[in-house]
Amino acid sequence: MNTKIIKIHDNDQDVFIEAGKIIRSGGLVAFPTETVYGLGANALDSEAVAGIFRAKGRPQDNPLISHIADFQEIYSLCREVPPEAELLAENFWPGPLTMVLKKSDAIPMSVSAGLDTAGIRLPSHPAARALIRAAGVPIAAPSANTSGKPSPTTAAHVLADMDGKIDMILDGGACSVGLESTVVSLCGERPRLLRPGGITLEQLESVLGKVDVDRAIREQISTNEKVSAPGMKYRHYAPRAPVTIISGTPEHTAGYIRTHISPSTGVLCFDEYVSLFESAGHVRGYGSVYDISAQARQIFDALRGFDSSSVTEILAQCPSDIGLGLAVANRLKKAAGFNIIEI
Ligand code: TXA
Ligand code: MG
Repeated sequence: MNTKIIKIHDNDQDVFIEAGKIIRSGGLVAFPTETVYGLGANALDSEAVAGIFRAKGRPQDNPLISHIADFQEIYSLCREVPPEAELLAENFWPGPLTMVLKKSDAIPMSVSAGLDTAGIRLPSHPAARALIRAAGVPIAAPSANTSGKPSPTTAAHVLADMDGKIDMILDGGACSVGLESTVVSLCGERPRLLRPGGITLEQLESVLGKVDVDRAIREQISTNEKVSAPGMKYRHYAPRAPVTIISGTPEHTAGYIRTHISPSTGVLCFDEYVSLFESAGHVRGYGSVYDISAQARQIFDALRGFDSSSVTEILAQCPSDIGLGLAVANRLKKAAGFNIIEI
C-alpha cells in the first residue's frame, strides 16, 4: 500500500473531505492531535478497526479510544453519562482527557476489546476535529506507533512506523502536549485515574474531589494480573537499548550518571546537564529541569532518537510526580520497564 502524506493547513477543506472519505470507506488515516498522532479508523466499523490492530501489531485485549468532535455525540456512544462526565467535559474538553464510561451498543466489541466500557475523547486540535466532522463518524484512534514503541509526536515518527501500512498521514507539525491524554474511569464508585496525561491529577481533583490513582501508574504490574486499563501492563515507549532510571535530586543523579557511563551509554537528561556528558557517550536533553511542559513535548522524540545510534544502554533522569511530572515519569518508567536505581 502506498501511504500518502499530506501537509495540512487550517482551511484545507479538500484534504479533510478526502481523508474523511477514506475513514468512511474503511481505511486508516493518521492525524495530529494536541497529545500525539492518532491512527484513525471508523469506530463503528469492526473491520476497519481490525486494520488498526494489524498495522500497529497491537494486542487484541487493548481497547481503543473513540474520538468525537461534539459533546452531544457522547450520549449515543455511552449508556450512562454521569454528572461527573459533564463536569469534566465543561472544564477540560476539548482537550487531552479521555473518560471511560459504560458503552452503548453503538461501539463494537472490537473497539472496546470485549469490555462493556468505552474510552471517549474530544480532542482540541482543529485538524482532528475537522477530520472527525468530515468523516461523519466517531474515530477510533490509538497512538500511531508500532505497538511498544514511543508514541509519535511528528508525522516523521508516524511515517517511520507506518509507511506502507496505512492509507494516509495528515502532517500537522509537532504535537503541543507531546504525551497522551489522561485516562479517567467514571465507572466505579469513585473516579479513578488509569493513565496520567495532559490534564493533571491535581486538575481532575479540583473538579471532582478525591480521585483514586491506579497502582499500575507508578509500579510494575505482572502480565497475568488484572489491570483497569489493559494498555498499562505492556512494555511501552521503549527504545531498542534498555533504559535505567536514576532517581534522586537532579544534581545527584547527574553526578551518578557521570561516574557510571561507558562509551556506548546513552544519556537522557535535563537540558541543564547536557554539557556534562557531551564528551562521553550519546546524550539527549529533553527539556529544562524547571519546564515540565517542555519535557512532555520532547520525551518521546528523545527516546526515539536513541534508536538511530548504537548505544547499548540508556541512563535517564526523571522528574518528580508533581503536576504533569506524573505523566512524564510514568512514560519514562514504562520505557524502563520500571528498572529504577534510587540513589
Ligand atoms: O492522547 C491520546 O489518548 C491518544 C490520541 C491519539 O488521542 N490516543 C492514545 O490511544 O493514546 P492508545 O490506544 O495508545 O492508548 C489508550 C489507552 C490504553 O492504555 C487503553 O488500555 C486505555 O486507554 N483504554 C481505552 N479504552 C479503555 C477502556 N474502556 N477501559 C480502560 N482503559 C481503556
Ligand atoms: Mg499508545
